[in-house]
Amino acid sequence: MKHLPLFFDLAGRKVVVVGQGAAADRRAGLARSAGAEISRVVAEAVEVADFRGAAAAFIATGELESDVAAQRVAKAAGVPVNVADRPALCDFILPAIIDRDGIVVAVSTAGASPTLASVLRGRIEAVLPERIGALASLARTFRVQVNALIADPARRRGFWRRLVEGPAAGLALAGDEAGARRVALGELDAARRRMSAVGIAHIVGAGPGDPDLLTLRAAQLLQEADAILHDDLVPAAILDRARRDAELVSVGKRMGTAGWAQADIEVELVRRVRAGQAVVRLKAGDPFVFGRGGEEVEALRAAGLPVSIVPGITAALGCAASVGIPLTHRRLASAVTFVTGHGAEGGREAAWPALAAQGHTLVVYMGAAEAASVRDRLLDAGVAPVTPVAVIENATRPGERVSVGRLVDLARLAAAHTARADAGPSLIIVGEVAGLATVADQPFLAEVS
Ligand SMILES: C[S@@+](CC[C@H](N)C(=O)[O-])C[C@H]1O[C@@H](n2cnc3c(N)ncnc32)[C@H](O)[C@@H]1O
Repeated sequence: MKHLPLFFDLAGRKVVVVGQGAAADRRAGLARSAGAEISRVVAEAVEVADFRGAAAAFIATGELESDVAAQRVAKAAGVPVNVADRPALCDFILPAIIDRDGIVVAVSTAGASPTLASVLRGRIEAVLPERIGALASLARTFRVQVNALIADPARRRGFWRRLVEGPAAGLALAGDEAGARRVALGELDAARRRMSAVGIAHIVGAGPGDPDLLTLRAAQLLQEADAILHDDLVPAAILDRARRDAELVSVGKRMGTAGWAQADIEVELVRRVRAGQAVVRLKAGDPFVFGRGGEEVEALRAAGLPVSIVPGITAALGCAASVGIPLTHRRLASAVTFVTGHGAEGGREAAWPALAAQGHTLVVYMGAAEAASVRDRLLDAGVAPVTPVAVIENATRPGERVSVGRLVDLARLAAAHTARADAGPSLIIVGEVAGLATVADQPFLAEVS
């Protein structure tokens, strides 16, 4: 290691900045944001007296001669110096900095490549949760109390570990700071009384299947969960992102498979959270779109347990993007509706006539097996028989297939996707926009009549 990274408290300290350009301004801004009092000096007038009492000096005149001269004067005054773009003249170098609400990460390549440092900074920023600062302030709030109340260092470490990785952290990162404080208080109380603390459930959308379409928060929670209760529809490529020792429980829920009863899933979630586990309930697509996520949230809330909700890319959006169908379109469609093709939700039947309007895109989930009845209901509702339709199977997954045709042929098109024993999930899009689907790679499937 060429340089030792240190975080320097500059609050109220004098920092000298020599030079006028953008590099000098940037350094002055950074030092000021750390609370330093900035003294600006022009390159031509540098004197030892300028540096007296200074904690550090930044030199950025842009001219080699002026940089060297100013650096010598600063050194004579005994002040550590940074000279912009001249590592050989520096006592300390400026790293690439991430500052997310008080969480600071510094990246250095020891002056070898500022570009590499900033590329690395970008990558680290992408994996840092957006609200990491809220987690730090939660920890700060409890610091004094925890040190006072938990005397045993091992138990204190355990408490902190749980605070930054467990349910309170989940709530803080999800933006529920009051909920996070409540859970942390409960945990502090439990830790004090040597009781086991309550866990948390995260109702998480896994997206349409491609692991790269997971949200950052979903990926983080898969790394933190004690147990993951997942639908059958969630592919192995996504489950592979789970922490190695997480318990994976398949609760079924794929059309045509028995799976667990919804009530049993809810009982299991409540049981595990009460036992102190951080549980991810991983659902295909988005948990609140034909996912019964709402019922699971209600069950957990009724039991007084903490729960967070993480949205996912719903199948309609995944399918549309994957095959190039814009669900709305300036000329073709100004509205879009998601409906279910069968009554699995046990809910109300869609008002099909209201959906039959021109310029309206209809996305039918779970509709391929009921394609004939979907077709008939739409024709009865007045939709033109020649309206374009697309059937998309396994969107964003290996084995993705799309068939495009006319509403009158929907049953025949869908049969090509449901007949096989290993058929994947498929979804129907009805409306003028369906004609824009990209089927070039699979001409044998494009059935435009
Ligand atoms: C029980 S629903 C769950 C929907 C999910 N909550 C969502 O937001 O996408 C299951 C239906 O979603 C659709 N689906 C889910 N993933 C799909 C995919 N990768 N390709 C095509 N359709 C998909 C199919 O219509 C399937 O029958």
